[in-house]
Amino acid sequence: MRRVLALVVAGTLAAATLPAHAQDEEKAPYRPTPQQVVDRMLALAQVKPTDYVVDLGSGDGRIVLTAAKKYGARGLGVEIDRGLVRDARAAAARDGLSDRARFEIQDLFETDLRDATVLTLYLLPEMNRKLAPRILEQMKPGTRVVSQEWGIGDWQPDVRETVAGTEEWTGWVKERGVFLWIVPARVAGRWQVERGDAAGGFALDLWQEYQMVDARDDRGGVAARFRPIKGSEVRFTVPAPSPLAGDYVGVVEGAMMQGEFTTPAGAKGTWRAARRGDASR
Ligand SMILES: C[S@@+](CC[C@H](N)C(=O)[O-])C[C@H]1O[C@@H](n2cnc3c(N)ncnc32)[C@H](O)[C@@H]1O
Repeated sequence: MRRVLALVVAGTLAAATLPAHAQDEEKAPYRPTPQQVVDRMLALAQVKPTDYVVDLGSGDGRIVLTAAKKYGARGLGVEIDRGLVRDARAAAARDGLSDRARFEIQDLFETDLRDATVLTLYLLPEMNRKLAPRILEQMKPGTRVVSQEWGIGDWQPDVRETVAGTEEWTGWVKERGVFLWIVPARVAGRWQVERGDAAGGFALDLWQEYQMVDARDDRGGVAARFRPIKGSEVRFTVPAPSPLAGDYVGVVEGAMMQGEFTTPAGAKGTWRAARRGDASR
């Protein structure tokens, strides 16, 4: 995965924008995101008026300000540079956005992410990697994370794009990677599934890495093929000739899942599942 991501970001500004010595450090230098890239990041995250957009390392505030101005969203930018926070607050006041676009002087590693529905990042690879457990722990299933230039460790993006943007300090047009992740529900563990028809129930032993899920049959569970989960939505297939064969679609809510299935013959029905055991990993 790292190699794939490295290839995707190759040819972007990665090496050029951030001095080699800074890439090992934990403080990303200030580099404003070109407005075209800001626009694309927010469009990729499908920002809506109901969203709360948090930009970690918010610089002059342009991402949060654009989210408020263009999409009517609320937002918070956190930044350790006082001068940049002052500039961002002044821009918010000038545009009449102070009630919706807030800026705080804060270390981004201490920012509470529980209310964020969209998280934006333009940091350094090691910073993103370090943030991953916090993102997965605190952000709710279905919330979105967008980063430009860098991935988040070995967490594979759900969407990746290349976007051209004009650098303000050189005037050069450069291409860079923009990546979207949808925070996955936690489904690892043993589940007991009940189908609402004569086929009855079965166990699923789920192993999970980020949005990738494997249903293992080495402990008596059914071997099912899972698609990458999208937020709270699960999709899996139990292959024929099993009497349980079918395509299953459902929604995870904590320790419960429920949804619908379609058999290979086209019959439809409902299913429910309850978590019976701890996460396998
Ligand atoms: C590459 S700039 C991105 C600015 C803005 N997000 C944008 O896209 O235009 C990274 C910003 O992160 C800030 N920063 C670096 N380390 C930080 C930390 N630990 N806590 C808060 N801000 C930090 C820097 O001061 C800098 O303004």
